Amino acid sequence: MLTLNNVSLAYTNGRASVKALADINFQIERGKSYAIIGPSGCGKTSLIFLMMGLLPPTTGEILLDGEPLLKPHKDTALILQEYGLLPWKTVWENAALGLKLRKVAEEEINRILERVFEELELTECIDRYPSQLSGGQKQRVALARALSLKPKLLLMDEPLSALDALTRENLQEVILKLIKRYQMTSVLVTHSIEEAVYLGQKIVILSARPGRICAQIDNPEQGTDGYRKKTSYHEKCSEVRSLLEVYSQ
Ligand SMILES: Nc1ncnc2c1ncn2[C@@H]1O[C@H](COP(=O)(O)OP(=O)(O)O)[C@@H](O)[C@H]1O
Ligand SMILES: [Mg+2]
Repeated sequence: MLTLNNVSLAYTNGRASVKALADINFQIERGKSYAIIGPSGCGKTSLIFLMMGLLPPTTGEILLDGEPLLKPHKDTALILQEYGLLPWKTVWENAALGLKLRKVAEEEINRILERVFEELELTECIDRYPSQLSGGQKQRVALARALSLKPKLLLMDEPLSALDALTRENLQEVILKLIKRYQMTSVLVTHSIEEAVYLGQKIVILSARPGRICAQIDNPEQGTDGYRKKTSYHEKCSEVRSLLEVYSQ
């Protein structure tokens, strides 16, 4: 679906240049879920922005279904840690933003959002403003906005980092369920080992800056019932932790 060939990224500000990513060769296969994990500042957000088509790579190329990715594509949605909600708009208006930009008819917007809100258990919040929501609810509104566009590829940059542990686990379940139901391909950036193992069929480990892919681990049991409580889950977490210790220096 998405291919990154020899991608590197450097930021230049005046005379200073920061190398954020180097030698990224990576393929995202349709229908799979990926978790990307690496130390702070290693270029994870930059990588997600590249995959979204928001930044051009400094060298190399990014292909979406074989075509060069030059700007954000309508089938790709992005969810950020800071939710990206407009404080002066209600939950409903916030969720409708993407559909409005696409000039979808009002009736159709209502039909789509009603279903998505029900799915995300947000119906009672629709007339509230973002300041009247909990962190978990805010992130569910951001999810609603993304899902209403029926994306084929869902990119998430540390979407759950700001949440407390229980809300976080709860939203991990929500994300898991939605990815299955909507048959989305997904890429989740996280700095939580447990989250990467819970949500990623493939776990990609990045080195310290400039971020390079040091390992890709298969996680075939991801998404199976009760995985979080299984011994194999804890063993996979240990495996990822050991690799991170080696590579994140
Ligand atoms: N717009 C920018 N200009 C200059 N440097 C940047 C910019 N954005 C990010 N960086 C630098 O690039 C590196 C990678 O950043 P980022 O992708 O945000 O990492 P991560 O998400 O893994 O914490 C960091 O050293 C950061 O300071
Ligand atoms: Mg980041």
